[in-house]
Amino acid sequence: MGLLSGDMLGPLAVAVLIFLLLLDVMHRRSRWAPRYPPGPTPLPVLGNLLQVDFEDPRPSFNQLRRRFGNVFSLQQVWTPVVVLNGLAAVREALVYRNQDTSDRPPPAVYEHVGYGPRAEGVILARYGKAWREQRRFSLSTLRNFGLGKKSLEQWVTEEASCLCAAFADQAGRPFSPRDLLNKAVSNVIASLTFGFRFEYNDPRIVKLLDMMEDMLKEESGLVRQVVEAVPVLLRIPGLAAKIFPGLKAFMALIDELITEQKMTRDPTQPPRHLIDAFLDEVKEAKGNPESSFNDENLRLVVTDLFSAGMVTTSTTLAWALLLMILHPDVQRRVQQEIDEVIGKVRRPEMGDQALMPFTVAVVHEVQRFADIIPLGLPHMTSRDIEVQGFYVPKGTTLITNLSSVLKDETIWEKPFCFHPEHFLDAQGRFVKQEAFIPFSAGRRACLGEPLARMELFLFFTSLLQHFSFSVPAGQPRPSDHGVFAFLVTPPPYQLCAVPR
Ligand code: HEM
Ligand SMILES: *[C@@H]1O[C@H](CO)[C@@H](O)[C@H](O)[C@H]1NC(C)=O
Repeated sequence: MGLLSGDMLGPLAVAVLIFLLLLDVMHRRSRWAPRYPPGPTPLPVLGNLLQVDFEDPRPSFNQLRRRFGNVFSLQQVWTPVVVLNGLAAVREALVYRNQDTSDRPPPAVYEHVGYGPRAEGVILARYGKAWREQRRFSLSTLRNFGLGKKSLEQWVTEEASCLCAAFADQAGRPFSPRDLLNKAVSNVIASLTFGFRFEYNDPRIVKLLDMMEDMLKEESGLVRQVVEAVPVLLRIPGLAAKIFPGLKAFMALIDELITEQKMTRDPTQPPRHLIDAFLDEVKEAKGNPESSFNDENLRLVVTDLFSAGMVTTSTTLAWALLLMILHPDVQRRVQQEIDEVIGKVRRPEMGDQALMPFTVAVVHEVQRFADIIPLGLPHMTSRDIEVQGFYVPKGTTLITNLSSVLKDETIWEKPFCFHPEHFLDAQGRFVKQEAFIPFSAGRRACLGEPLARMELFLFFTSLLQHFSFSVPAGQPRPSDHGVFAFLVTPPPYQLCAVPR
């Protein structure tokens, strides 16, 4: 008892303070290494936490880049962070040094939803066996269902027809396309994982999308940064549920849907969808405690595919339609190409891309301009490395500024304008660009890229085949400045879809 009596409290506080400061000094040792990237001086304990506005970090980062250059350092409480800007630095780190830059920072924040050593999902998995197994599984499942009886392309094409029918139901009245795009894209992932699509008025898809939105909000903000830096805080009973209600609810719904599929599964039949394929692997791995194929991981993998594959794709489509109403000349040229190559009746196919360089260039330019994941996902170094001559020690969080590459002023002719000619040569042929990295690069690059490309092309061409889009009469022209909310979404807007 004496320990906490009044006259002991002072010295105790001083001791704790000294201990914290010593710990702090230890954590900033790397800053004093020669050739460590420059950056703002971190405050004791807090680091640079208060110097960056995490609701929208872009303006404060912009200042730092101007002051310190393309490679600069930050400290998030006790985590060292290095930010990479420009094609040269990002490519050097993600491609040339990929064996040492493919780890992720430990996501202690997710332990409360079941994240553990054998159940890491894919997106946030540490660079190791569990990640390798699940990445390979997701890729091969995407590929197998792409070739299966009802191929992914067919799913997407059918969903595109449903989407067009729902647009037609708006009967030319102004509406925001966001909700329908979200549903169509969710249905593609639902087809892949659960083997069925939701009707657009099914209460479950409405719920799923609401929760997804809550989940995204939980990904940004100061509170999030604090628990990220000091995850022990989440051991406080009830706190995790308070900070992550969306994620919790979303995973509960995923659990429900998985259980449903387990009940209707016939193990003598070939897998109907990703969940069946995963359960086959679980059976195969029975008795192997090293395997990442287990029920805990199934729900994480499914959640990952939904969260990585849904909002990204639908946000890009929302940008595509916005840019079409802002650039009617581009829209007309796409429609002309559709009419020439596909016609007014036949459904678009992936094979049409070869004959549609302008449309393909437009889709690429939409992704470049929209720049929806400006800072990519964080990586972590698993060894001391060098980037652009700077020393980056093991265990450093790497932020790859994809935006700085997609809008690199030394590469693109008009980096801040929507200009499909970025992807066309003088003869109007499509040209690839090395700095086109909306899916990132290296071993951790987006594994859903082929599916995303399929959705973007098929949804976009189907919509433009059937409708002409315009700013509703009497409404002001919407802006093309994105709104930062973890992803960069287009500003809210309405359009008119007139059948053609
Ligand atoms: C336009 C749509 C999309 C964009 C712009 C996009 C972009 C990205 C980016 C920037 C990353 C981070 C890569 C890195 O860490 O360096 C990523 C990772 C990932 N994406 Fe996508 N993505 C899209 C669609 C999809 C789809 C449709 C799926 C799945 C069905 C998907 C699944 C994933 C997964 C699982 C990862 C984590 C990969 C890993 O950590 O190994 N994405 N994506
Ligand atoms: C990323 O690049 C963009 C465009 O060059 C720039 O405005 C932004 O400040 C950069 N962000 C960081 C974190 O360096």
